[in-house]
Amino acid sequence: MDICIKRIEGSPVEGFVKGKGPRKPTLMLVGEAPGENEAIQGLPFVGRAGEELKKSLASIGLTREDVYMTSAVRSRPFIWKDKKERNGESVKKKYNRPPTQSEIIAHAPILDFELLNISPLLIVTLGNVGLQRLLGKSATVSKLHGQLLQRPVQILESLNSTQYTWSSETYTIIPTYHPASVFYRPSNREFLEDDWKTIGDYIKTQKF
Ligand code: URA
Repeated sequence: MDICIKRIEGSPVEGFVKGKGPRKPTLMLVGEAPGENEAIQGLPFVGRAGEELKKSLASIGLTREDVYMTSAVRSRPFIWKDKKERNGESVKKKYNRPPTQSEIIAHAPILDFELLNISPLLIVTLGNVGLQRLLGKSATVSKLHGQLLQRPVQILESLNSTQYTWSSETYTIIPTYHPASVFYRPSNREFLEDDWKTIGDYIKTQKF
């Protein structure tokens, strides 16, 4: 963890959220990065996206406590922007932004460690950032969502490296959209519901 805080130094990020959940969970969820609420509370998926995620989990009979929640980046990437107040005054405010490639690589040792030490039945990636962290830039959620994939994943060549290599181990992954995607694209809800049904059906067929 300390080395990752060092590796990301100089980037506009704040807070640090550890992965959370059992060591042998049904699912390992790989998100993008914490938002404002997560950075304040130090817990993953406790904001608006977390509420959506809870509904998806409930649709297949799971709760937050049944799953391991993690993300590509552990600190909240932010950007300062002007916000117009009601009185017309402009104030500077921090907004969430997607993590950069170098921020994702800076925090890669943590997710690599989790991939080695957490043994889920299934990995579910939430959105493109988590998906591409594991399967590379050519993997897109629009192409792959709802598909059962059995593939090696990207891991750092070594702890201090900034280059990925492919794991010798194969992981079982079903990609889906990020729960927050329904806020800006409500039509995604249908895809999300179908994907979560696929995830639920897969779990039912497995002895775990
Ligand atoms: N989005 C993520 O990817 N992770 C969180 O913890 C919250 C929102």
